[in-house]
Amino acid sequence: MTIAARSWTDPGAVASNRLPMTTFLRDGDDVVSLDGAWAFTLLDRPGGNARCVTTVDVPGCWTMQDVGDIPQYTNVQMPFPGPPPRVPVENPTGVYSRRVDVPARWEGRRIVLHVAGAETVLYVEVDGAYVGMGSDSRLPHEFDLTSLVTAGSSFELTLTVVRWGAATYLEDQDHWHHAGLHRSVLLYSTPVVHLADVHAVADWDPATGDGSLRVRAITGEASARGARITAALDGVEVGSTEARWEHPTSFAVNMALFEGRGGVVTAAVPGVEPWSAEHPRLHDLRVTLVDAAGAQLDAVALRIGFRRVEVRGHELLVNGRAVLIKGVNRHDHDERRGKAVTRESIRRDIELMKANNLNAVRTSHYPSDAYLYDVCDELGMYVVDEANIETHAYQRSLTRSPEWGPSILERVTRMALRDKNHPCVLMWSLGNESGWSPMHDACAAWLRAFDPSRPVHYENGITESLYSGLSMVDALRVPRFETDVVAPMYPHVEAIEAYASGPALPEKPLIMCEYIHAMNNSCGDLDRYWRVIESSPGLQGGFVWDWVDQALLKDGRWVYGGDFGDSPHDGPFCLNGLVFADRTPHPSLHEVRVVCQPVGFVWVGDGVVRVTNKHDFTEADGFSWSVTVDGDEVAAGAADGLALAPGASVDVAVALPSLSLTGHQIAHLTCRTPTSLWQHELARSRAIEGRTTTLNRPRTDARLCLWRAPIDNETFHRPSHAERWAAMGLRDAHERIELRTTIDERGVTTHEVTVPDEWDDIPRVGVRLALPPEVVAVDWLGRGPHECYSDRQASAIVGRWRTAVVDWPVPYVHPQANGNRTGVRWLRFLDAAGAVVLTIDEMDDLDVTVSRWTDEELADAAHLEDLPSRDHAFVWIDARHRGVGSGAVGPDVSAPHRIGPGTYRWSYRIQPNG
Ligand code: GAL
Repeated sequence: MTIAARSWTDPGAVASNRLPMTTFLRDGDDVVSLDGAWAFTLLDRPGGNARCVTTVDVPGCWTMQDVGDIPQYTNVQMPFPGPPPRVPVENPTGVYSRRVDVPARWEGRRIVLHVAGAETVLYVEVDGAYVGMGSDSRLPHEFDLTSLVTAGSSFELTLTVVRWGAATYLEDQDHWHHAGLHRSVLLYSTPVVHLADVHAVADWDPATGDGSLRVRAITGEASARGARITAALDGVEVGSTEARWEHPTSFAVNMALFEGRGGVVTAAVPGVEPWSAEHPRLHDLRVTLVDAAGAQLDAVALRIGFRRVEVRGHELLVNGRAVLIKGVNRHDHDERRGKAVTRESIRRDIELMKANNLNAVRTSHYPSDAYLYDVCDELGMYVVDEANIETHAYQRSLTRSPEWGPSILERVTRMALRDKNHPCVLMWSLGNESGWSPMHDACAAWLRAFDPSRPVHYENGITESLYSGLSMVDALRVPRFETDVVAPMYPHVEAIEAYASGPALPEKPLIMCEYIHAMNNSCGDLDRYWRVIESSPGLQGGFVWDWVDQALLKDGRWVYGGDFGDSPHDGPFCLNGLVFADRTPHPSLHEVRVVCQPVGFVWVGDGVVRVTNKHDFTEADGFSWSVTVDGDEVAAGAADGLALAPGASVDVAVALPSLSLTGHQIAHLTCRTPTSLWQHELARSRAIEGRTTTLNRPRTDARLCLWRAPIDNETFHRPSHAERWAAMGLRDAHERIELRTTIDERGVTTHEVTVPDEWDDIPRVGVRLALPPEVVAVDWLGRGPHECYSDRQASAIVGRWRTAVVDWPVPYVHPQANGNRTGVRWLRFLDAAGAVVLTIDEMDDLDVTVSRWTDEELADAAHLEDLPSRDHAFVWIDARHRGVGSGAVGPDVSAPHRIGPGTYRWSYRIQPNG
C-alpha cells in the first residue's frame, strides 16, 4: 500500500474508485457473503503500531469486541477537538483481512465488492494493491474487482477502516461513535453486459384507481447491439424497449439516470391495488435484458408498490388522503453489538412499532441498512429517509463552506439512488441539525429533479429562523425552498396550533420531525398534541424522539456515556427510547399505542358514544363495551356489524345498567375494538364527603414529601428544576414545613400542608410510609397497570390491578423518580401467601408510588446497581404529583400538571389485616 499518510483521512487525496450508487439487485448464486470471522489488527493510527492482533466478527463494531478500543457517546460536541477538518493523530485503525474464494462459476463475469457499512473511512486492497476508498459510514461502497481477481481462485482482501476522518464532521449525530465494518460485506457478480440499475416509479391515481409504471433500466459499460429491455409485472410482460448504449464516458452512469444508456419501459396498470402503510400491497417486477436473438443477457427482480405521495397546499397526501404521521425516530442500536444491528432486530423494531400503532419511521439521522426498507415495504411503514449529514458542533458554519459541498450532495444523491424503488420511502430528508446553506437548496433541487414522486424534508431552516430571533410560530411560517413540509423539532402544542389557525390555511403541511422527548420517565402531553393534530387541517403528526434507549451492556451492566472511560461524553443523554435497549417497552410506549390508536371514542351523553374510524384506508369493526364498578364488570355488550368507512363516525347507543353506587365506589364504561381501547367515568359515589376529623392523634411515621428524585427532564431542562429544588432545600422540606395530621375514630388519616408562596412548581405534595417487611405484592384500584402521571395517563385504565412490589418501579437505566400511579382509590398489600397485611382505602384518586428505594437513593445513584437493597418497601401517597413533560429539550410540564403554592389536604384510611 503506497498511500500517503495524510490520505488516510482525507478523501480527496487518492482516487476513490467507488462505483456509482445503485439499487442492490443481486441474490442467490450471484452473491458470496463475506460475513463471519476476519483476521484483525488494531493500529494506533493509520500506518502506526499494532495494539491488538485478533479475530473479529463482520458485521460488527470492533468497539464492542474487546480489542482495546472503546465506544464514545457524544451529543452536540465532536468526539475529538477540531476545527474541521482536523482529525486526531491517535486514530484507531482496523485492518481486516481474509482470503476470498471466487467461485469458478463466475468465469467471464463482472465481480463487485460491496461493503454495506464501514465507520468511518474505508480503504480497499486486493492482494496488497490499492483498489479504492470511501467515507460515508451509513451507505454501501462498491468497487469493481473484475480485472483484479480470478474466478476459481482466491485472493487476499484487506479492508482498512480508519475511525476518525474529515467525514466525522459530517456525522456528528447524537449517538455512540463506534468503529468498524458494522454492516455486511459481500462479493457479487453480474454478466459483463448487464443491468447496472433499475429505477421503477409505480404511480397510482386515486381518481381512477389505475396505476402506471415507468421503469428506467440502466445498462452497464459493455454493449450488445440490438438488445432489448423488458419489464414483467407479477409474471406478465408489460412492456419492452430497445437498449441503448451511448455515453460511454466515465461520467456516464449518473448522466444515464436522466438520459442515455439503457431504456425506459412504461405501462398502464389498470385497477391495481395500491400500496400504503395500512395495506402494503407489493408486486413483483422483473426486468430482463435480452440480445438481438431474444436470449437473456441479464435479469433482476424487485418488489414494488403503486402509490402516490404529493404535497398539495397544506396537505401531504398518500393515495389522495391526508394521512396522519404517527412516527418515531430510530437509530441503529443493539445493546451488545452497538451499530451492528441484525436483520432480526430490524424486523422486531418495525413489528413492535406497528403493534403500537406507529405508522412511520424517520431513519434518524442516516440511511438504515437496506433491509429496513424491505421490511417497511413488506409490513407497511412510511419512511422518512435521512441523509447521513449532521454537523451539529459546527451547525451554522460547516455546510456553508463550499469545500464540503460535494460530500453533502454526494451523501444525499447516493441515498436517493440506493433507496429510490422502495414504496415505503415517503420523503427524503437532507439530514439533521446542519444549519442552512445554499447546498441544502441545491440538494433539494437535485432530489426534486431526480425523483418528483417524493417531497423533500429538512428541519434546520426553522432553527436558523429561531437563531435570528423569530418566535417558533413566526419561524414556522417563513417560506423555505429546501423543504416541502414544515418539519420543526419540539414545538409547543400552542405553536403548532397557532400555525394551523391563522387567518388562512397554512401553506405547507406541518409534520414534526421530532417531538415528545422520550428520555427515561417522560412523554407528557402526547394526548394534547394529538387532540390538536386531529382537529387542525395542516397538522399531520410527527416523529417521537426516539425509539430505543442507547444503553449498552458492559460486563452484564447497563451503561451509558462515560462508562467506558470515553471522553468527552454526554452521560445518560442517550437514553431517550420508547423502549429499553433490549426492546422491553417503557410505559410511554403504551401511551403512544393508545393515543395513536386507529379508532377514537367520545362520550356524547345519555349512553351514546361517538366512534370514529381514524384509519386512512381500512374499515373499522368489532365494537364492544363493558361497565365496571370498582373494576368489577356489571354489564357488557357489543355492536354487531359496525363497519365504519375510513374517516367516518357513528353514534353507538350503549345499554347502560342502572347504577346504585354505595360507599366509596366508582363506575366506568370501557369501549373496545380489536385495535382500540377507551374508558369513560360514568359515576362515583360521594360517601367520603362530610368526613370530619375530630381526633388529634398525629401519625409519626408519615413523612412529608415535597420532592422527588429529579427525572432527566427536570435535570436537563434549562433552567434546571433539579438545581432550583436543591437551592430551595426541597429534599429536606419535612424538617421545616409542618405536616398537620389527624386520624378519626374510623382510622381515616387526614393530612394538611401549606406550600409557601415562594415555592412555585414543586414535584409533589405527599407523604411516605414504611411498609411491613412481609409485603411482597400490591393490589390496587386505580389507573394502571403501568406507570402513569397526570400528563401521561391516556393509556392507563381505571381497574383492579396486581403487581409484585419489585415490579412496581420502572428500572430506568439512569435512576430517577418513577413508578407513579394516578387515580388510586385503594391499595391492598399482600404477603407471600397472598394474605392481606394492610389495606389503605377511601382515597380520592390519589397518586401512589411503591418502591424499595427512596427518592434520595434514586437521586444519588448513577446506575441501577448503585441502589441499596432493603428488606421493606415504602408507599408514597400524594395529593399531587408533577407531570413528566418533555422538558429536557422540548416543552416543560404544562400548567395543569404543575404544583404551586397553597394549602393541600388529602386523606386515606389504613386498616391492618384488611
Ligand atoms: C435533537 C436531535 C436528536 C437528539 C435530540 C435530543 O435536537 O436532533 O438527535 O439529540 O435532540 O435527545
